[in-house]
Parts: sequence; C-alpha cells; structure tokens
Amino acid sequence: WYATVHESRNMPWRKPYNPHLGPEERAQRAYEVWVSEVMLQQTQVATVIPYYNRWIDKYSVFCIQVYAHHFSRFPTIHELADASIDEVNALWKGLGMTLPSSQPSVHPAVSTGYYTRASRLLAGAKKAVSEFNGKLPDNAKDLQTHIPGIGRYSAGAISSIAYGEHAPVLDGNVTRLLSRLLALHAPPKGKLVLDILWNAATTMVEDVPGNVQHPGDVNQALIELGSTVCKVRDPNCDGCPVQPWCKAKTGAIETQLPDIEDL
Ligand code: ADE
Repeated sequence: WYATVHESRNMPWRKPYNPHLGPEERAQRAYEVWVSEVMLQQTQVATVIPYYNRWIDKYSVFCIQVYAHHFSRFPTIHELADASIDEVNALWKGLGMTLPSSQPSVHPAVSTGYYTRASRLLAGAKKAVSEFNGKLPDNAKDLQTHIPGIGRYSAGAISSIAYGEHAPVLDGNVTRLLSRLLALHAPPKGKLVLDILWNAATTMVEDVPGNVQHPGDVNQALIELGSTVCKVRDPNCDGCPVQPWCKAKTGAIETQLPDIEDL
C-alpha cells in the first residue's frame, strides 16, 4: 500500500533507503530526517516542504531569498550548530500553529510551542557536534538519552528511517490508527494504554508477518495511513489496506475511537 501511494506524495525528506551508504552519509540522512520530523510536529506536510527545502538547501537558487534570510541555511548539522538562535528563528518563522484545531497531527504528550522546536533543534545540533563529532547517534535509545529535544517518537523515526533500526514510532496519527485497529476503549493518555500502544507499534515494526520492508518504510506507512486514510473524522475505511483486521470497523465504532477529543 505504502509503495503505491507514497510515490505521489513527493516529500523531499523521503528518500529510498540505501543500504550501501557509509556512516557519514547515513548521519546526514539522520540530520535531514530529524529536521523534517521536528518541522512536521504540529505543521502540515504542504506547509513544511518549502521550509524544509530552504533549511537544507546547500545552494540557494534564489538570491533574494538568501538575502532575506541573512544567508542562514543549515544543509548539515555543522552549519546549524554554528548558528545563532536569531538566525534559526528567522528561518523558522511562519512554521507556527498552522493546523486547524480539528486536525492535530501531534500527540499531546509531545506538544511543543512556537519557536521552542527551533531552539531545541539548535541545542541538539550543538550537543551532537560537541560530543558526537557531528553524527547523530545511530539508535533510538542513544538519540533519546543524549540529544536534547529528541523524544521517543523522533528517536524512533530517525533511527528507523536513517539507520534501519527496528524502532517504533507513535505520534497522533499512529495512536489513532492503532487505537482503532485494536479497539482500545480507554483514552490514550495513561501509562497503561500508552504502553499497549507502544508495544503494538513495536510489534508492527519488528515482526509483522511476512514483512520484508525496511523499518523506516513500515513506520512511515503507519504515519501515512493514519494521516491520510484513518482520519479523525470521516475515515476512509474502504480505501484502507488493513480494514479486514480492524476491530473498530468490525464493531462499527471507528469514529468513536480513540476515546479522546481531537485524536
Ligand atoms: N508526519 C510526521 N512524520 C512524517 C513523515 N515522515 N512523513 C509524512 N508525514 C509525517
């Protein structure tokens, strides 16, 4: 399903997983995935694309844009680590609260405010350069432990997409998808329910039967399915590849779950 839909989505941070990349190139991929994931928290894909391109662009084609942004571009983690918070904020400006309130893409547990995401990226880049030679750690545990601003979700996204680790992701989209698949009748807030959801997300990325896909693709497929098919209101169950296994659909309660407003 993912292979057929994602081609048409054309997101610049999505690149086919290449097992032959060396450690430097893989760390660069991790940086790019990190930037994209932080931008995508609370901001829609279509809004993020031009910001991401301006941020990562090595050579800006548009001189006026270069001047407008005081030359600040952060194609690698080193340029970001050397930047001032004002330069970072200048490039971030406008990536604020652009989501309609009925469609949050972020789990409340990872909710962050305007500019805070940018300043965390800067702090994380400084630490990665000073302590890890500019290479983001290659596994979710170390990412979450050592890089400020990287929580469990981002750690799983970066390590699975860039490094190929079988680490889970759980954002608002995946929470909604899994809550419906499993027909969880409790709000996805408390530790018990969050543990169930993280375990389910782990099972998905570790040992879905017959799964031969790259773990980064499995995770992005879950995010994509949650955001484009298993929507908050009016889920497109007829276009859903996992409908036969969905307990909420079987019980015709898909729009009542998850048991929380706005998820
Ligand atoms: N939202 C969060 N992460 C995403 C990703 N990798 N692709 C598309 N949408 C996302």
